[in-house]
Amino acid sequence: MNSNPTITVAVTGASGLLGRPLLALLADSRYRVRGAAWSRAGGGLDRIDITDPAAVDAWLDEVKPDVLVHLAAERRPDVYAEDPETADRLNIDATEALATSCAAREVNLIFLSTNYVFDGTSSPYLPDDATNPLNDYGWGKLAGEHAVTGASGRHRVLRVPMFHGPSESLEESSVTVLARAFLDSDGPVPLDVRQTRYPAYAPDLAVVIVGLLPGLAGGSLPGPILHFSPDEPFTKRDMGEIIAPLVGAESARAVADERPPSGAARPEKVKLACPNLEAMGLMKITPFREAIRMSLESIREAGGL
Ligand SMILES: NC(=O)c1ccc[n+]([C@@H]2O[C@H](COP(=O)([O-])OP(=O)(O)OC[C@H]3O[C@@H](n4cnc5c(N)ncnc54)[C@H](OP(=O)(O)O)[C@@H]3O)[C@@H](O)[C@H]2O)c1
Repeated sequence: MNSNPTITVAVTGASGLLGRPLLALLADSRYRVRGAAWSRAGGGLDRIDITDPAAVDAWLDEVKPDVLVHLAAERRPDVYAEDPETADRLNIDATEALATSCAAREVNLIFLSTNYVFDGTSSPYLPDDATNPLNDYGWGKLAGEHAVTGASGRHRVLRVPMFHGPSESLEESSVTVLARAFLDSDGPVPLDVRQTRYPAYAPDLAVVIVGLLPGLAGGSLPGPILHFSPDEPFTKRDMGEIIAPLVGAESARAVADERPPSGAARPEKVKLACPNLEAMGLMKITPFREAIRMSLESIREAGGL
């Protein structure tokens, strides 16, 4: 239970990997919450196309939120690269319109961004360090950040690394999808050892975001940019060694792939330093071994494994 029962929270992307645990946590608290989704709307989620500013404004006027958590996005760098114009409309244009509409209504917004705004050459990164995205997704998120911080001094950006969480399918996260190759073959599974990641657990992120809401509503959060990241570094091969036995495979089947990864360029190593969240006591980190076991268990229960 929290001590802010009067805050109404609106959430875009409420049907997504992070939106679902966030909505569940808010529903268990005494916040009032309204979630918007698109193709997976229904079941209590409003169907709003956030690339339609008029629809967004009508939704804001109906919901009258105190704060808005903006999660809706195209978050897959390879999909983004295939059609950047369409993805930019969602990640940049819709974000800008939403941030402006929220500012006009004195609704403070928090925007989820990514460690991919950095190039990975001088990790760890503080929130004010120089950005230099390596792919279209990172550039789009950086433009979204600028739109958000430019629209209101009370809006905030929360950068996070790749995450996984409860789901119906392995494919919903670039972490859980690593299990797929162990299931689809019997042989060695080559996995990247060049890039280091700091995978987070979506329900932990939900706790962090809920912890930020009173400060966001009151305009007292430090910022405008905040970082959240676990500390444990993993290559995909490292993750594969842990994931393999959880899906009935030998850890030894996860072997080093030394070749440059295919697809959109990604930084080799971006550790987000989190001075503000640490100072506020808002870090929530479930160890990876435990978190990935819970994510895979949820997928198994949903029949996706
Ligand atoms: N996943 C990661 O590893 C990761 C890492 C760093 C940062 N982030 C950021 O964290 C945020 C949440 O990511 P996530 O993984 O939870 O996302 P996700 O699972 O891919 O979900 C995307 C959400 O956006 C909604 N959406 C897409 N197009 C829309 C439209 N036109 N109108 C309204 N809603 C639309 C989707 O709704 P429907 O599904 O109902 O269509 C869905 O709820 C994103 O901003 C992402 O960039 C993610």
